[in-house]
Amino acid sequence: MNRPGKEDTQFLKIQKDHAEEFLKLIKIKFSDVNIIDKRKKVLHSGSYVLFPLIKNRENVNKFIESDIFDLKFEIINTNGELDPNYKFRSIEEALADELPEDIIELIPKSYDVIGKIAIIEFDQFIALNIDKTSLYKKKVAEAIVKVNKGVETVYEKKSEVKGKYRLKDLQSIFGEDNPETIYKENNCMFKLDVKNTYFTPRLVFERKRLSLLNFAKNELIVDMFAGVGPISIQIAKSNEVNVYSFDINPMAYKYLIENVKLNKLKGEISAHNIDVATLINLSNELGTHLNDCVDRIIMNLPEQSIKYIDIACFLMKKIGGILHIYQFCEKPNPIEKGIENLRNKLNGKGWRLEEIINSKIVKAFSPKSDLIVIDAKIRYIP
Ligand SMILES: C[S@@+](CC[C@H](N)C(=O)[O-])C[C@H]1O[C@@H](n2cnc3c(N)ncnc32)[C@H](O)[C@@H]1O
Repeated sequence: MNRPGKEDTQFLKIQKDHAEEFLKLIKIKFSDVNIIDKRKKVLHSGSYVLFPLIKNRENVNKFIESDIFDLKFEIINTNGELDPNYKFRSIEEALADELPEDIIELIPKSYDVIGKIAIIEFDQFIALNIDKTSLYKKKVAEAIVKVNKGVETVYEKKSEVKGKYRLKDLQSIFGEDNPETIYKENNCMFKLDVKNTYFTPRLVFERKRLSLLNFAKNELIVDMFAGVGPISIQIAKSNEVNVYSFDINPMAYKYLIENVKLNKLKGEISAHNIDVATLINLSNELGTHLNDCVDRIIMNLPEQSIKYIDIACFLMKKIGGILHIYQFCEKPNPIEKGIENLRNKLNGKGWRLEEIINSKIVKAFSPKSDLIVIDAKIRYIP
C-alpha cells in the first residue's frame, strides 16, 4: 500500500554510469516530448538510478519503442514521491494530476498577487455542481500557493468593485483570513488591506508613467482619490514636489499615512481623510488655502471623476494647470468620448481644454467599455 504523499509511479531504471548519457540523449532526441516527471524525486538504488516517468502513456510508449538508445534500461513500477523543491510553472501544471482536464480548462488564466495574498475570480465555474465547485476552488487555491513564492492566502473575488470606497467582496478560500499585506512596486512599498481599501496591481505601468513625468521643483499636486497612496507616493519618491492626497475611506487614509512613513520620499505628502467635495465649502480652510493654487491634479475615480470637475476647477491655478483624469468610456471611440465629456464639463464652468498632452486606453474594463486616461492642460477663460 502507498504511504501518504506517495503514489504508484512508473520509473525508468538505468545503470548509474549511463544516467548522464541517457539524459543527454533524451534532451536531443525528445526535446519537444516530456518523458521524465520533473515534479517527482529521482530515486537511487544500489548501482541504479530510477527516473520517474510522466503519466502520459502514449509519450512514454513512443519513447520505449524507439530504437535510438543502445543503453540498457528497464521500466519498473514503485512508489514515487513529489519533490518538495520542484517549482511549478503554472497552476495548470500543478493541477495536472489532480483535476480533470475539462475543469483545468475552466481555471481563470489570470489572478492578482498582492504581496502574500492572491485574488482570483472563478467566473467560469458558475455552471458546475456546487459541492464539487468548492473542492475545485480549494485545489486551484493550493496550486496558486505552490506556484507563487510568498503567497500564503487566497481570496475569491465575489463582487465587482462597488460603493463609495470602491471595495470588492472577498471570500477566503485558502490560508489565514488576514487581508493585510505589503506590496512592492517600482521601488516603493505599500501596506494595505485588500478587503477594506481599494488597490489593484494592474495599474503598475500607469503609476510608473505618471511618476516619470516632468515635474517642476516644489510643484503643488493634488491626488484627489489617493487610496493607500500608490500614485502620490511613487511621484513623491523621486520628485521634489508637494502632494496633497485625499481619500474619503478612513482605512485607506490610515494606510496612506503609514505608507508615507514606509517610503523614503524626495517630496512631501500631506494626507487628508475627507470627501473632496467639501473642499469647495466656504468654511473649509484647506479648500480656501488650495483655491487657485494647484499646478496638477490627478483624478483616479474612473466611474465618477467627471462629477468632481468643479472641485478640480476650484483648486487649479486659473492661469492653467495639468489634469490627469481617468474615466470608463464606452466603445467604440472611448477616448473621443472621454475628451468630449471633459471638454463639455470644463466649458460649463468657464474653463477650457487648452491642450491634450496625452490620451490613451489604460486597459479594457468590460466588454463594452475601457479605462482611459487624458492628460490635459486646462485654464480659466471666462
Ligand atoms: C479607484 S480608487 C483609486 C485609489 C488610488 N488612486 C489607486 O490607484 O489605488 C478611488 C478612491 O477614491 C476614494 N474616494 C471616493 N470618493 C471620494 C471622495 N468624494 N473624496 C475622496 N475620496 C474619495 C475611495 O475611497 C477610493 O479609495
